[in-house]
Amino acid sequence: MKNYSFQIRKLYYFYFVAKSKKIEVIMSKRTIVTMPGDGIGRVVLEETIRVLESAGFEANYVEGDIGWEYWCTEGNPLPQRTIDLIQEHKVALFGAITSKPKEEAVDELAPEFKGDKLVYSSPIVGLRQHFKLDICTRPCRTYKGNPLNFIRRGIGDEIEEPFVDVVIFRQNTEGLYGGVEWSDPPKDVYEALLTHPKFEKNFGHVPKNEISVSTRIFTRHATERILRAAFEYAQKYGYKSVTLCEKPNVIRETSGMMYRLAKEIQASDFSGIELWNTNIDAQMMWLTKNPENYGVIVAGNMFGDIVSDGFAGLIGGLGFACSAQFNDEGIGIFEPTHGSAPKYAEYTESIVNPVAMIESACMMLDFIDENEIAKRIRSSVAKVILEGEVQTYDMKKMKGSPDAIANGAATTKQMADAIIQNL
Ligand code: NAI
Ligand code: MG
Repeated sequence: MKNYSFQIRKLYYFYFVAKSKKIEVIMSKRTIVTMPGDGIGRVVLEETIRVLESAGFEANYVEGDIGWEYWCTEGNPLPQRTIDLIQEHKVALFGAITSKPKEEAVDELAPEFKGDKLVYSSPIVGLRQHFKLDICTRPCRTYKGNPLNFIRRGIGDEIEEPFVDVVIFRQNTEGLYGGVEWSDPPKDVYEALLTHPKFEKNFGHVPKNEISVSTRIFTRHATERILRAAFEYAQKYGYKSVTLCEKPNVIRETSGMMYRLAKEIQASDFSGIELWNTNIDAQMMWLTKNPENYGVIVAGNMFGDIVSDGFAGLIGGLGFACSAQFNDEGIGIFEPTHGSAPKYAEYTESIVNPVAMIESACMMLDFIDENEIAKRIRSSVAKVILEGEVQTYDMKKMKGSPDAIANGAATTKQMADAIIQNL
């Protein structure tokens, strides 16, 4: 009997030693918060994690709840526990969420929340604001062999395929997306507006309840941060120019401040890099005329959003558009720019392109100094695209439908498999 209990104790001892060793191994790995969200966000994120693991990136993943399901069941699409997880682990991968108009959102709430006057707001915008993720980076680079690449007519009948290598720095928390807006503004706001001669002259005769105002607030601190981030990136990666893409000749205070600061920063700290100044409207025209002329582009929130979609269109569109956003405390969230594409979410075999999410994960790897793994994944993606044997429906220029697979389009999983095989 005595001998038996000794054996048991010995077994326990080995169990605890083994367990603590295992805990040590687990502890030494980095933890990544994954927020699959809704619709195709779930599938592209799942495939991306397979790619990361196959490339030898060792991490623990903890899932953060976010999106429509939590709006319906808890009245909050961004539960506090998810915010806490990100605060704790700092680095997160985000898939996509579904947003619906105000009335529809209330209709889908669980009955116990229906009377609470809850108003839906996008949880990804909420995350950007909560963590002050003010720097958003959106690279748009041509993949050789991508059938979706932008082409244009050259001299005579010649068809040119310009190589695009543009990185957009978008201010992510202020400006027109800052959320300071009113319809039928409160009296004190209206009276304050009336003190502006132009308001009085152009809008003073309009009844207050027929006026909607969305503000465009830029702060010096945040503007300097996005400008510096753009210049530092250009310097680090050898881009010869930074283009400020705003509208300072018309929007004199906000765009004007940004242009003035850009000139100061360039003159004092980045004299080796040229500063170009373009207006957003002209830039949208030039990006199809000579996209190869641009390198780093920097803009406020809304113009950054617009110009980055414009350039993304030249390199294959939403299936290829990746992004990173981070703050000054080392918190970073990485996401494809596409949404949850609900119409493709219910397919038994998913057909959407996982490259945008995979590229976003590579930006995460760069952020945490896992550059070698990022490089391997990027080369593999480039190889698969160049070879052109495995292409999702968008690359085949097919209409998205379950038939796409029978017609030769790769599934999301097959695309990820091909990338894994070429690592
Ligand atoms: P979306 O980006 O979800 O889809 C637009 C279309 O782009 C799709 O129908 C599909 O044809 C194509 N597409 C998107 N991702 C693709 C991929 N990975 N591969 C191949 N094709 C792809 O935009 P939509 O339809 O305007 O919005 C759907 C939902 O997503 C809405 O509820 C919207 O609010 C939300 N949304 C969420 C975003 C986020 O989570 N950051 C961003 C944009 C939209
Ligand atoms: Mg956008």
